[in-house]
Amino acid sequence: MGLTTTTDMFKKAYEGRYAIGAFNVNNMEIVQGIMDAAVETNSPVILQVSSGARKYANPIYLKKLVEAAIKDASNKGKNIDVVLHLDHGDSFELCKDCIDSGFTSVMIDGSKYSFEENVALTKKVVDYAHERGVVVEAELGKLAGIEDDVNVSAEDANFTSPDEAVEFVKRTGCDSLAIAIGTSHGAYKFKGEPRLRFDILEEITNRMPGYPLVLHGASSIPQEFVDMCNKYGGNIPGAKGVTEELLRKAATYGVCKINIDSDIRLAMTANIRECFYKNPEVFDPRTYLGKAREAVKDMVKHKIVNVLGSQDAMNK
Ligand code: G3H
Ligand code: 13P
Ligand code: ZN
Repeated sequence: MGLTTTTDMFKKAYEGRYAIGAFNVNNMEIVQGIMDAAVETNSPVILQVSSGARKYANPIYLKKLVEAAIKDASNKGKNIDVVLHLDHGDSFELCKDCIDSGFTSVMIDGSKYSFEENVALTKKVVDYAHERGVVVEAELGKLAGIEDDVNVSAEDANFTSPDEAVEFVKRTGCDSLAIAIGTSHGAYKFKGEPRLRFDILEEITNRMPGYPLVLHGASSIPQEFVDMCNKYGGNIPGAKGVTEELLRKAATYGVCKINIDSDIRLAMTANIRECFYKNPEVFDPRTYLGKAREAVKDMVKHKIVNVLGSQDAMNK
């Protein structure tokens, strides 16, 4: 209970054919919104911190906010399993720093390197992490989109090879693997119809039964938030995400972790824009950040219940 690793969480999710939401946290309102949703739905949750989040908030604040959220939940009589995870760690040193400071899970993203370099870097992180009871997510294949300072164009993105995935997991001992099957980071994921390579996903799952896979770039970019942003002074025409149907299907194919960041950004921004537009006299940050926090909570609850299927997993 409380801060934990993903080991049991993923085992149960795999068997129950649901997924755990991994939500990016950057400030107090986001942590509170996500945790309130997890508490109200009795769902385990992964709170993930990118290196951009660390630079923005200072790592100590994020760690303490997560600890406070767990304590607050337990004060309400709810013991929610929470994983504190490093998102897209790009070096051994960064992973080490997070492991040493109490993260229960780290991602080493060596997807921009050659296969052999990715294996070597991932193995080094796995050895260090496992000695300290921390789990490691790795990535194979390239998603299109932007993460921190790395911008991968659609032409440079490439799908994960099932053969390589099997060899990679065997050689590195990583605990979960992020795969590229057509998702991408950010709010512009598809020009035409959203579609994912379920043939690749199915082959990887068949070759590694029981092994937890991770889907990055899995925001749905709800049209409601896009329209609100555009209506109240924003300019994000044509934003499009992965449909909820595709995500639900992925969760039944061995995807145990679904990463969501852009939907949090959109939920907050849409509501803050609306608040400013409708209430020009407002200048108390608690008014608009309070609305943003409520919007994060509602959005995360919707995901847990209608997309991920992890509600009540804390009771099972
Ligand atoms: O994968 C990217 C996540 O959305 C984190 O974004 O690097 O801007 O914090 P960030
Ligand atoms: P989105 O941009 O689709 O929210 O993806 C988030 C993510 O993959 C974080 O690692
Ligand atoms: Zn990602």
